[in-house]
Amino acid sequence: MIRGIKGVKDIPPSQMPKWNVVEIAAHRLAQSYGFREIRIPIFEPTDLYVRSIGGATDIVEKEMYTFPDRDGSSLTLRPEGTAGVVRSLIEHNLINDPTCKKLYYIGPMFRHERPQAGRFRQFHQFGVEMVGFTSPNADVEVISLLWRFFSSLQLPGLTLEINSLGQPQDRLGYKDNLVAFLKPKFEQLCSNCRRRIDTNPLRVLDCKVTQCRTATEEAPKLPDFLGKNSKDHFHQVLADLEMLSIPYHLNPRLVRGLDYYSMTTFEVSCSSLGAQNAIGAGGRYDGLFEVLGGKPTPAVGFAIGLERVLLALPECMIPTPNPWVFIAGFGPLGSKAGVSLLDTLRLNGITADTDHNSTSLKNLLRSADRLSAPYVLILGDDEVSQNNAILRNMETKAQENISLSEIPTFLKKRFSI
Ligand code: HAM
Repeated sequence: MIRGIKGVKDIPPSQMPKWNVVEIAAHRLAQSYGFREIRIPIFEPTDLYVRSIGGATDIVEKEMYTFPDRDGSSLTLRPEGTAGVVRSLIEHNLINDPTCKKLYYIGPMFRHERPQAGRFRQFHQFGVEMVGFTSPNADVEVISLLWRFFSSLQLPGLTLEINSLGQPQDRLGYKDNLVAFLKPKFEQLCSNCRRRIDTNPLRVLDCKVTQCRTATEEAPKLPDFLGKNSKDHFHQVLADLEMLSIPYHLNPRLVRGLDYYSMTTFEVSCSSLGAQNAIGAGGRYDGLFEVLGGKPTPAVGFAIGLERVLLALPECMIPTPNPWVFIAGFGPLGSKAGVSLLDTLRLNGITADTDHNSTSLKNLLRSADRLSAPYVLILGDDEVSQNNAILRNMETKAQENISLSEIPTFLKKRFSI
């Protein structure tokens, strides 16, 4: 037997109603904000991710699925969607196309992380990217979509944390101060953070190891180093979130694990999720288009981890299955009439099914039971010769005779179609 890959989950049919609820909500809400769907490839040249996410990040250093193509060029399964969207807009010269300024995507991403509850090697994101707007209104629109998506699904225990990373020149001054603060603390830091002092000092603030947290408690704070423009932008974002009654917590340590961010960054965590509690995150990435060879273009977006949304989804959000009917046609006339009835019902928009392996009424009813069919239409030779069928309610066991020609109308009324 060949087993699936660790951290790569099958989604069985029993889970699909939950997935459908979440994905339909994502499509509906994104479209109601004026976002259009884009589908980008699942694999891209490795360099795209190295240049955009950053060579000194966990994702690029240890988590990418990278492999040589047959011609020797290096390919990578996408660890996230932003880089691919930006590549596509630059490549097809769509940055100024008004229909491509607000894009969303839903699909699988791949990261070689240690699998645990809520953390997978193949997982799904719903992401949005808003391109070409410098206004803080764009940040607010994206954050409000993120927040309203979670609210519409009634996810409990959410916290929105927000920070501003400022512009690159703000960060340069801050980095010097931070490195000067961190160097004397070298011995107290974990091995990862020791390395990061030189490669990516901001990420030290994000480390979850307790000794690193304690050592950096008094670290200089990034918001104190923001220039006037960055401060004004951030204050307007916060004021507008208040106007929209979207609650937030300032977190000056929120630096995010991807290098392309500048200015506003945010993350939503969910208290019912345990260790992997980040359910969605994003921010501005005004410098990324230039890094990937495009014209300077402001942009802001987020991505939500759909497996985590499903873990937090309350039972009341899972819809009851649509009513449907199992056709139990048996005997030479009954089974033939059953084939015809299946077709008629489906053409009338009524969900109908049967079991082609069962030929006796007893076996057909057993199959219907196993499929949890709410109704069965019993159609033996006797019924066919009398031009009717018996409708059996599988829960109450009540039975009623219906003339064959009236079945579609009768069921449409019963199922409120
Ligand atoms: P990210 O924070 O790396 O951001 O991922 C976004 C979300 O994806 C996380 O908050 C989490 O819910 C989910 N996620 C990440 N890794 C895993 C995993 N191994 N298993 C399950 N869920 C996971 C980005 O990906 C950026 N591209 C977001 C963005 C879009 N920024 C601007 N635009």
